[in-house]
Amino acid sequence: PQAKKIKIKDIANYIGKRVEVHGWVHRLRIQKGHAFIILRDGSGFLQCVLTGDLANAYQTLTLTVESSLAVFGTINKLPEGKSAPGGVEASVDYYRIIGLAPSGKDSFTNKIQEGTDPNLLLDRRHLALRGETLSAVMKVRAKALAAVRRFYQEEDLTEVTPPCMVQTQVEGGSTLFSMNYYGEKAYLTQSSQLYLETCLPALGDVFCIQESFRAEKSHTRRHLSEYTHIEAELPFITFEDLLDHIEKFVVHIVKYIMEDPVSGALVKKLNPGFVMPKEPFKRLQYVEALDWLNENGVLNEDGTPFKFGDDIQEAAERKMTDTIGVPILLIRFPVEIKSFYMKKCADDPRVTESVDLLMPTVGEIMGGSMRIDGKDELLKGFKREGIDPTNYYWFTDQRVYGTCPHGGYGLGSERLLAWLCNRFTVKDCSLYPRFMGRCTP
Ligand code: 4AD
Ligand code: MG
Repeated sequence: PQAKKIKIKDIANYIGKRVEVHGWVHRLRIQKGHAFIILRDGSGFLQCVLTGDLANAYQTLTLTVESSLAVFGTINKLPEGKSAPGGVEASVDYYRIIGLAPSGKDSFTNKIQEGTDPNLLLDRRHLALRGETLSAVMKVRAKALAAVRRFYQEEDLTEVTPPCMVQTQVEGGSTLFSMNYYGEKAYLTQSSQLYLETCLPALGDVFCIQESFRAEKSHTRRHLSEYTHIEAELPFITFEDLLDHIEKFVVHIVKYIMEDPVSGALVKKLNPGFVMPKEPFKRLQYVEALDWLNENGVLNEDGTPFKFGDDIQEAAERKMTDTIGVPILLIRFPVEIKSFYMKKCADDPRVTESVDLLMPTVGEIMGGSMRIDGKDELLKGFKREGIDPTNYYWFTDQRVYGTCPHGGYGLGSERLLAWLCNRFTVKDCSLYPRFMGRCTP
């Protein structure tokens, strides 16, 4: 009978029918006149069974993992108790090898397992990506970005694409990657925030999903040199509005990700203990966090108790978040540990209208603030940071040609995924991670 060429994800619609499926040999088992192939096509996994002459054929006996195949067979529902992906199996009557993968020392399995070099899986990322965990995280990642776009579309934010090659800094000079731009000094962008701010009078609420770059000179679980930055900027809001928006954003994107049959199932598999974040999030002021840390015996990096003005470093931040165990909006950081553009609180000029969103297991996944909207105040911010404002004329003009109160935030997509998918490091959430010492493959 005729066979329809289908994707494995649609297999349930073809019970009792003959189909043609293309994919890669994910797993292979040959025993007593039967060959079992788990075929993978990127949309799902399908158990294929070969019997009789087909199972005993030389082509089958010498088949290798990761070979690509065209498989023809009839789809059968498996009886209760027999397990296979989707509860179905293809009874194969014919198959063709498209690309035979090597055997022996060059086999796929050897390529990702040989030796004890901890860098092996990073050097062989192109092969490791085929594994169940990494490919699952990449599927969730795609769905997460779609969920973000869906939320912004529903809330009517306009998507823009700011440049990655820039001549300004946003988050401090020490993590800038610089480059030679036709003989001029330029940088890889650390954040698209300043560009988003300039879009407000033209487009209203805006967002972007753009790569950001940070020359992080240390190895941590949550720092990359290049990461996918989800940023939004909103005019005519208050700090309270910003916090409410962030809460709504996070709750909605997680809901969309978990409601999606593909990403919902994958997150549950990768992170069986996952708890949906609930509104309202716990709000904690920076000074209250210091009290919490000191009361709970968590010390500063130099071994002393925390005092006003100290940065709460990764380890302490995670300790606090893991112990409290729910998402925290940490707000009102001191001026001196935050960026030049952050607006001061009207009731206490020592602190800013700033927020970090902290999640258990990861800590900070998002940072945001209200922005200084007066030109003179902004120039003072530049001065405090030792930044020459000349190159920022277009940003400063935002405050000249019809300024407005505004604020926004940036969410690190790899950190969001590390939290959602329960990954130890953000490196597991990036397709080809870049960090100090690695820019390949
Ligand atoms: O806290 P950050 O530095 O804030 C900004 O860049 C703001 N300009 C964003 C804005 O208001 N539009 O970075 C925002 C988020 C962090 O919370 C973190 O999730 C992520 O970006 N991030 C990184 N992710 C991976 N590797 C790095 N090196 C990161 N640096 C920041
Ligand atoms: Mg931050």
